[in-house]
Amino acid sequence: MFGLLFRTLSMTFALQTSPQAEIEKRIDTLLARMTLEEKLGQMSQSTAMRSPISEDIKQQIRQGRWGSFLNAGLPADRVEAQRIAVKESRLRIPLLFGRDVIHGYRTVFPIPLGQSATWNPELIERAAATAAREASTEGIHWTFAPMLDITRDPRWGRVAETLGEDPYLTSQLGAAMIRGFQGKSLGEAGRLAACAKHFAGYGAAEGGRDYNSTFIPENQLREVYLPPFHAAVTAGVATFMTAFNALNGVPASGNRFLLDHILRKEWKFTGIVVSDYESVIEMVKHGVAADAGEAALKAVTAGVDMEMVSTTYFEHLRRLVEQRRISMATIDAAVRRILRLKHQLGLLFGDPMRPVAAVEISTEARAIAKEVAIESFVLLKNDNGVLPFAAAVNRIAVIGPLADSAVDQMGSWVMDAKPEETETPLASLRKKYGADRIQYVAALANSRDTSRENFGAAIKAAKASDMVLLLLGEEQILSGEAHSRAFLNLPGAQEALVDEIAKTGKPIVTIILAGRPLTFHGVAAKSAGVLYAWHPGTMGGPALVELLAGERSPSGKLSISFPRTVGQIPIYYNHLNTGRPASVGELGVPLGNPVNPQGFTSKYLDVDFTPEYPFGLGLSYTTFEYSTPRISSAILTRGSRVTVSADITNTGKREAEEVAQLYVRDLVASVARPVRQLKGFRRVRLKPGEKRTVSFALSESDLSFYNESMRLLTEAGEFQVWISPDAARGSDVRFSFQASPH
Ligand code: BGC
Repeated sequence: MFGLLFRTLSMTFALQTSPQAEIEKRIDTLLARMTLEEKLGQMSQSTAMRSPISEDIKQQIRQGRWGSFLNAGLPADRVEAQRIAVKESRLRIPLLFGRDVIHGYRTVFPIPLGQSATWNPELIERAAATAAREASTEGIHWTFAPMLDITRDPRWGRVAETLGEDPYLTSQLGAAMIRGFQGKSLGEAGRLAACAKHFAGYGAAEGGRDYNSTFIPENQLREVYLPPFHAAVTAGVATFMTAFNALNGVPASGNRFLLDHILRKEWKFTGIVVSDYESVIEMVKHGVAADAGEAALKAVTAGVDMEMVSTTYFEHLRRLVEQRRISMATIDAAVRRILRLKHQLGLLFGDPMRPVAAVEISTEARAIAKEVAIESFVLLKNDNGVLPFAAAVNRIAVIGPLADSAVDQMGSWVMDAKPEETETPLASLRKKYGADRIQYVAALANSRDTSRENFGAAIKAAKASDMVLLLLGEEQILSGEAHSRAFLNLPGAQEALVDEIAKTGKPIVTIILAGRPLTFHGVAAKSAGVLYAWHPGTMGGPALVELLAGERSPSGKLSISFPRTVGQIPIYYNHLNTGRPASVGELGVPLGNPVNPQGFTSKYLDVDFTPEYPFGLGLSYTTFEYSTPRISSAILTRGSRVTVSADITNTGKREAEEVAQLYVRDLVASVARPVRQLKGFRRVRLKPGEKRTVSFALSESDLSFYNESMRLLTEAGEFQVWISPDAARGSDVRFSFQASPH
């Protein structure tokens, strides 16, 4: 009794005196002084700050009309706007400047989908830290990244911004990005507040059409779409952004189940939730709000603290508070979270006028960008060791619309980068091999060009060379927000170009730069080598040349399955088995030509049931051999662990890195379980002939799932486990989980 009293007293004492308690008190005092208008101002984010700042906006800042601006103004404008806020507004509350720093700021790293192919959290963390340093130097406080949406649909233009199809990989890499942006504390110089977006289900847009509805059953939501967001909360992400889509009919920006029940109550998230761009007012078009007032009511009740761009909060919440349809406590809770973030960033009760300077790309930033690009490239084919270039290769024909397009290799969301600071593959090849050994013909003005006018020059260049490097794919503007495609082939006349070049008989290496998985079966068949390079960013050229020249070996692995054709979508590795699974013996269906099938299994008449390139795949200049995995104990009990190990041997002639992948399968459960689920991965570097053992520990929580009543649990029974080079290969070992020790 006395002990309890003592503990309570000392806790109270600690609360009263802790720095956090002091801050909360100061926020209380500030809140008490704020008018309702000023509170609603804090809850409003605008994009209307142009350069130079208009008198109207300056006046609005003085009046406390905005708590935050996004993607607005130049560094000097931000300084001026902040000065007005902290010197001329009544309560001197600093502004929060948000921006889409998605895959770099001045230095552009590969698009997130490319970064995820590195399977390298440490590297991704360093890239995010670099972006944070650059952006914060120019007065940015908050980035709208990482995007944690899972997608199984490469038609969706925003697949470029995802970290792939897998919840575990996305969780690991998303958390790494958050650590990179935020550091140990938001107050550290050179850091940004991160934002987990888009909550939730956005990547399941029907038909891959952006903004489209999503219908996700709760167990799939919890097992596939939500884990990366939960991991973000665990990693301490400062903010969340809602999504544009309606999830099961309820728009994410007014979705109480997502924002209140899961995010606030289950996950105990205490940071701020911002809407997406006008997604609050869009609830009217969704047909769940009759007007702007109802949209505001739904959003704020669900838990959206700050409204991005649309102005329903400022215009309607006063009336709704007066009508007692919203409590002042709800408003205050939202404003408190916003003020707390401003404090954590060192702005409120801190130093909002920190110096802002123009940022330059540093040598270190370039080195990190090159490393990320190198590790992101995925070698998909390398017949007869066509890569790296043999010493005998003297003249190289460089052909294609993406060989020398700085803008296109940067990808989407690069508003702070400069194309002239980006080194293209052509520029790097010329530097490395000398301009006279490189025969360059773009052949097509861009990836969509259908003119064959310059094919003749390309064929001539190919004939005059020892080999041909084709740089094909998709321009920057073919992926990203609102840029979905229904066809996934190489656009324009690119395929026709490959047909013509192939007729020369010269060995072809195709490098594909794209914001998504494309279908290019015929092109790959005509190429001896295929390297997938995504949109690799500022250092894409030098990174590519290091690989082509053999200074490094490719080590990227696909973070998303590549379909053979659009008709297979959705195709993903962690699917269920069905009651009639097709078998390997049923492979070999001619592409696009219906055959009379044998057997009643789950497959197609006109294409194989497997992907063109499976999740996890990536070749190397060397070869690796995996031993059958070993398990430390055939039985796993509650509270214990089993260790799974395998030996990996470099059986080739070059030193290289390999990403070993751990997969499990729950063989019998009350709910059907995926045929494989990624549960771990490790990058290892091996010299020729070298053998290393990789080990992973598995415990009960790694095997858990949501049962029919949405209970997270692990059921007793047998499990398969693989350590393998991708999701389609490898041998397994089995163990059992026993729920009780008896
Ligand atoms: C996008 C968000 C982005 C926001 C601000 C929206 O259109 O969906 O991802 O952060 O704009 O630019």
